Amino acid sequence: PELNGDGAEILMKSYACQRRTPLKHHNAFLTEALEILAQNAEFNDNEGRSVAFRRAASVLKALPHRVKSMEDLRCLPCLGDHSQRVIKEILEDGSSREVESTRQSEQFQAMKALTGVFGVGVRTADRWIREGLRTPDDLIRTGQQLNRAQQAGVQYYSELQRAVTRAEAELIMAIVEAAVNSVLPGCQIQLMGGFRRGKEVGHDVDFLITHPEEGKEEGLMLKIISWLEEQGVLLYQKTTRNSYVERLDGPARSASNMDRFERCFSIFKLHSSASRSGSASTSESGSACDSGCRAVRVDLVVSPFSQFAFATLGWTGSKLFERELRRWAGQEKQMTLSSHTLYDSKQNLYLRAQTEEEIFAHLGLEFIPPSERNA
Ligand code: CTP
Ligand code: MN
Ligand code: MN
Ligand code: MN
Repeated sequence: PELNGDGAEILMKSYACQRRTPLKHHNAFLTEALEILAQNAEFNDNEGRSVAFRRAASVLKALPHRVKSMEDLRCLPCLGDHSQRVIKEILEDGSSREVESTRQSEQFQAMKALTGVFGVGVRTADRWIREGLRTPDDLIRTGQQLNRAQQAGVQYYSELQRAVTRAEAELIMAIVEAAVNSVLPGCQIQLMGGFRRGKEVGHDVDFLITHPEEGKEEGLMLKIISWLEEQGVLLYQKTTRNSYVERLDGPARSASNMDRFERCFSIFKLHSSASRSGSASTSESGSACDSGCRAVRVDLVVSPFSQFAFATLGWTGSKLFERELRRWAGQEKQMTLSSHTLYDSKQNLYLRAQTEEEIFAHLGLEFIPPSERNA
């Protein structure tokens, strides 16, 4: 077994949801490289390969020390031949040729630039690249047909590329609280995603909203959105209705990983001055984003109170941690976990929970706090 610096034994569990993964770790020089290959595999629509690299990177994030030699990797799970080859090359030469040539490649850079546009997925980006387009500017220059989300994505491209700070997240929290409290008093509002895991910056800000009286949350999203629109806060929004139905015979087999809450993908407008001084200003209306204005991606989700714990667990991330939780549930426990429920196929029943702790317990897992879910 692997020994750490003090000669103590490290037992690395094989599912990321069985491990504690802090935000700051000791092997960024390796995980960044492996994640380039993971991203490239995603760009090539090769999910299996992408997940393999992400799992390998995640194991290194959970190590309590910096990897110095291949000896340090003995007995670690999830490190396939390819990942080991890449790690070996970085340890010996300081970098991996495959990683560096991927990073430099025109295809990779164009995919990164185009999928970096809000509303653009891998398939669309790939089609554009085959047509000779490389950057968001090319989309405008050639007058590409864009849907409403992509139009907003192109329009606010550089703003949305800038990392969102925790201060900006707090500012948006105050705006969301004002909106929610004025349309329905007594709601609970929780900051989700990367910020709940302790990240200092993010690509967006995620919120989960519920009301302790089941049923009160119905139709809430539309009211919140109207309030925000009246205040001139929204540069873009797309709201989807709650389409979740609990089936007596368990979750539908086809169930995708997407949840079915009332949700809103949006772009908020902040005033840069307010964003710097830390005070909310929502008085001006209109939907243009001028030079004194900051555009930030915001995700809002409304859940019924009975599903709040599942929604909390499902929207905290990281994405790999979530994926591993579902894999653990299915493969090790014959259960189906979603952001709505946990279904036990052996007992043919839904397992209820009011807290995340209860869900981990149902799954036979040690509780991992949000700050250690940075898998
Ligand atoms: N999520 C989801 N369905 C989506 C998008 C996201 O369930 N269509 C969940 C993810 O599983 C994740 C959480 O929402 O748990 C946050 O996702 P996201 O904002 O994309 O990532 P973060 O971890 O918050 O990282 P970042 O700082 O880049 O926003
Ligand atoms: Mn450490
Ligand atoms: Mn997020
Ligand atoms: Mn999000």
